[in-house]
Amino acid sequence: MYLKHRLKSKSSLYLHSPFVFQFYNEVIKGKPLESDIKINNYKKTLLQDNKSIEIQDFGAGSKVLSNSNRKIKDIARHNSKDIKQGSFMSRLVRFLKPNTILEYGTSLGISSLYMASALNSNAQLISMEGDPQLSKIAQNGCDQFNLKNIQLLNGEFDTCFPEVLQKTNSLDLVYFDGNHLKEPTLKYFKDCINLANEDSAFVFDDIRWTADMLSAWNIIKAHPKVSLSIDLFDMGIIFFRQQAKENFCFNL
Ligand SMILES: C[S@@+](CC[C@H](N)C(=O)[O-])C[C@H]1O[C@@H](n2cnc3c(N)ncnc32)[C@H](O)[C@@H]1O
Repeated sequence: MYLKHRLKSKSSLYLHSPFVFQFYNEVIKGKPLESDIKINNYKKTLLQDNKSIEIQDFGAGSKVLSNSNRKIKDIARHNSKDIKQGSFMSRLVRFLKPNTILEYGTSLGISSLYMASALNSNAQLISMEGDPQLSKIAQNGCDQFNLKNIQLLNGEFDTCFPEVLQKTNSLDLVYFDGNHLKEPTLKYFKDCINLANEDSAFVFDDIRWTADMLSAWNIIKAHPKVSLSIDLFDMGIIFFRQQAKENFCFNL
């Protein structure tokens, strides 16, 4: 499947859309920010943390970690962004300059840190996580980085969402990275689409985790409000800009 994706992938030489050309050069092929290195170093400390915590699984679970008693280092290894994807998220934030970001799935807070560190100080990131212990560790990380623009909500996504609606009526960037099942993913997308504006972007992680997730991604990118989709194999990004519909595949 990856080989097929590579063959379909374009390079910037073939891009006629100025927006996609700029996105390709600045976000997909851009260099890591200085803050990315610090977050990666913080992740390295979590990768050495032998403490175990009892996890409540809220979503589709993990393909690798089946035990509810998990070591922090294992969660960091299997459930957190690596520097390549994390740095992509921070470049995306720098490029889009969103006022409000919503994240589905905080886990240890690594992707929240990548995004929040590239965010304007007057903008906000709201991140939702069902497991209370993970939320606590994520809060610790935010405190260490002195990032005041992150609000962590602890609870099931559907329970937290009304609270999100009280905080904002517009979502400039949404990162869907929890509960990788088809129907919940489509429901979260439906919940958020009414809050999207012309400049919003939604990022779906693990679009090839299962055949069902790929099916959800295909439904999402075909939605009439979606004008542009970018398929990065593991992640898919959609935009609502005013333009004729286009779909692209790139390698990160
Ligand atoms: C892949 S991890 C998130 C990783 C994080 N975004 C990162 O890259 O650092 C997904 C998280 O979503 C949480 N989750 C899954 N389904 C959920 C639900 N329905 N409600 C609340 N949290 C959920 C899980 O507990 C898990 O910690």
